[in-house]
Amino acid sequence: MEPNALRILVVNGKGGCGKTTIATNLAAAYARAGHHVVLMDHDAQASSTHWWAERAAPLPPIHLCEAHRRTSMYTTRAFAQRLPPDVDRIVIDTPSAVGDRELDDLLRGVDAIVVPLLPSSIDIRAGARFISQMLSHRLYRTRPVPVAVVANRVQQNTPTHSKLIHFLEGLDVPAIATFRDSAIYTGLADDGCGIFDLEADASVARELDQWHKLLSWIDQVCRPQPTKKATMRRGPLAASAHPRPERATLHT
Ligand SMILES: Nc1ncnc2c1ncn2[C@@H]1O[C@H](COP(=O)(O)OP(=O)(O)OP(=O)(O)O)[C@@H](O)[C@H]1O
Ligand SMILES: [Mg+2]
Repeated sequence: MEPNALRILVVNGKGGCGKTTIATNLAAAYARAGHHVVLMDHDAQASSTHWWAERAAPLPPIHLCEAHRRTSMYTTRAFAQRLPPDVDRIVIDTPSAVGDRELDDLLRGVDAIVVPLLPSSIDIRAGARFISQMLSHRLYRTRPVPVAVVANRVQQNTPTHSKLIHFLEGLDVPAIATFRDSAIYTGLADDGCGIFDLEADASVARELDQWHKLLSWIDQVCRPQPTKKATMRRGPLAASAHPRPERATLHT
């Protein structure tokens, strides 16, 4: 493990909720801010890997780690996942089929967990199940870390939007940001870009505020906490002992 690198896990057992979109945009945001970033792709679909392959200079570089690749008998998993020594941000994209066994691997050493959620009843139910499965996982209970939900592909003033608001209010974990359903994200995915790579472009201006909220939350909860040791003993939901930011407004 890289002791000085923040590890941010983007995870939800539900497919298509925006894990790769959030992970690649976070990686690109950190790279643009001058960090040494690793994007770790745990998904055999390799969507993050494809995004990365489209990313070329002058975009700030990101190191890819294809964690989904099987290792041969001559290469250990640890060797295959060796990271550059100066890395300070590791963003982890995950597959949708995540059970207890996969969580054993994914939760190891993470500093913050981001769970993207789509605003449909099916996704909300599956998301709630996933979050409680994760919070009761042995590794999470041994070492709780801050967890946040981000609502993704939200269309305002629809019935599903109201259901989502209701659901988020009842969660044990904070809802940090709300990303609109926007064709911008598909374009970014095709070009190996993140939203901050187009910061100067008026078309992304509306989105940036919510991304800043997510980045600030990560920054805030990952800052060394003087009382961390004491709060960690509180049990599964100790993560909520971290400074709790404002709830996402859900108005974009
Ligand atoms: N906010 C958004 N607005 C519009 N389209 C989006 C948004 N977020 C994601 N998408 C699109 O939705 C699709 C699924 O997103 P993404 O691949 O990020 O989900 P995922 O959770 O990684 O899926 P999988 O479980 O298959 O890995 C992609 O085509 C992506 O471009
Ligand atoms: Mg994906």
